[in-house]
Amino acid sequence: MSEQAFRKTKGEYIIDTDPALIDRELVHRYLSNESYWAKGVPFEIVSKSIDHSLCFGLYHGSRQIGFARMVTDRATFTYLADVFILEEERGKGLSKWMMQEIDTHPDLQGLRRWMLGTRDAHVLYEQFGWTVITEEQRPRFMQRHFPEVYRSEKAQMP
Ligand SMILES: CC(C)(COP(=O)(O)OP(=O)(O)OC[C@H]1O[C@@H](n2cnc3c(N)ncnc32)[C@H](O)[C@@H]1OP(=O)(O)O)[C@@H](O)C(=O)NCCC(=O)NCCS
Repeated sequence: MSEQAFRKTKGEYIIDTDPALIDRELVHRYLSNESYWAKGVPFEIVSKSIDHSLCFGLYHGSRQIGFARMVTDRATFTYLADVFILEEERGKGLSKWMMQEIDTHPDLQGLRRWMLGTRDAHVLYEQFGWTVITEEQRPRFMQRHFPEVYRSEKAQMP
């Protein structure tokens, strides 16, 4: 897949989609130990997911401090996953800046549907046009969900 350069700066902060810049150990450490959605995820799975997604790294100088991953065909659909800002950098508007810049990425224009799952950050996403799926819309959507997939061998997908 041809990767176009995408880099935005705000003072000392940088958003870049270059997969070579991503600190995969840091992303894995956060997702595996701290996140509420991917606890225990193996390094190899995180690394493979980065290889096959459009990833937005957020950096303070050369140090990575945040991340967001778009699982997308770059034509019709995208799923936003693995959004985080390291604790010491939260509350500075950085995730809002990241959402704002993600919206401008050339490969995410004109898509028919964007989706995400969140436990408690609805208010963040609502500021960028996301809406909760309503009761009337709900029957149109289905999922296969394996929340225990990283917890035991038995829970692996068949
Ligand atoms: C959620 C998270 C990415 C927000 O990052 P941040 O840079 O601290 O957020 P910002 O400073 O850009 O502001 C976030 C905005 O969303 C709002 N918000 C809504 N839900 C929130 C939540 N669960 N956590 C933080 N902010 C939330 C804030 O009030 C703020 O809005 P405001 O400025 O209008 O008051 C960060 O708290 C984080 O990494 N949390 C742990 C991982 C996580 O929950 N990721 C999201 C998974 S869907």
